[in-house]
Amino acid sequence: MAAGSHEEQATAGPAQDERLGYCLYRSMARPGLDRGEIDQILEKARRSNRMLSLTGCLHYENGMFFQWLEGPRLRLFRLLDALHQDDRHLNMTVLDQGSLEKRLFEGWEMRFSDRAAASLFDWLADWGSRADDVEAYAERVAVFLQSIRQDDRYRLGE
Ligand SMILES: Cc1cc2nc3c(=O)[nH]c(=O)nc-3n(C[C@H](O)[C@H](O)[C@H](O)COP(=O)(O)O)c2cc1C
Repeated sequence: MAAGSHEEQATAGPAQDERLGYCLYRSMARPGLDRGEIDQILEKARRSNRMLSLTGCLHYENGMFFQWLEGPRLRLFRLLDALHQDDRHLNMTVLDQGSLEKRLFEGWEMRFSDRAAASLFDWLADWGSRADDVEAYAERVAVFLQSIRQDDRYRLGE
């Protein structure tokens, strides 16, 4: 094969749906959603994510979900559609999304944390975070989620 065509392939990159993307969103748990239901969500999510090569992290605190999802973009978009229609949470607000060079949660089918692991709200308060500065807010939420990803208590499959 000519060197030129190699180059062309390299710059074209992987197929559209295989490119990595991420999405960070926040939502409100349906009132009355209990820990058993959250465990059920996690169990199914982990199984499905493993098959679809999606990874990420879910944090639950004060009745709110914060989820970082990453993986092949097409599969990610499909999951986001399903999430939008899931009545176990409300007011789904995308805080940030885009493409990704490298996964932040490699190996995590869905990392879970809650207030017992670390408090996002305390973290945001410490930063003096303003809810109306969405960009800075999203960045701080993302940094928080990454800061607790090393907590192996919730790592599965080991
Ligand atoms: C807070 C929350 C997080 C979820 N995270 C995931 C996830 O990471 N992966 C997943 O497959 N489903 C997840 N789900 C479940 C999806 O919303 C949906 O029920 C599931 O993808 C099945 O969709 P389907 O019935 O359209 O196939 C989550 C649901 C909630 C409420």
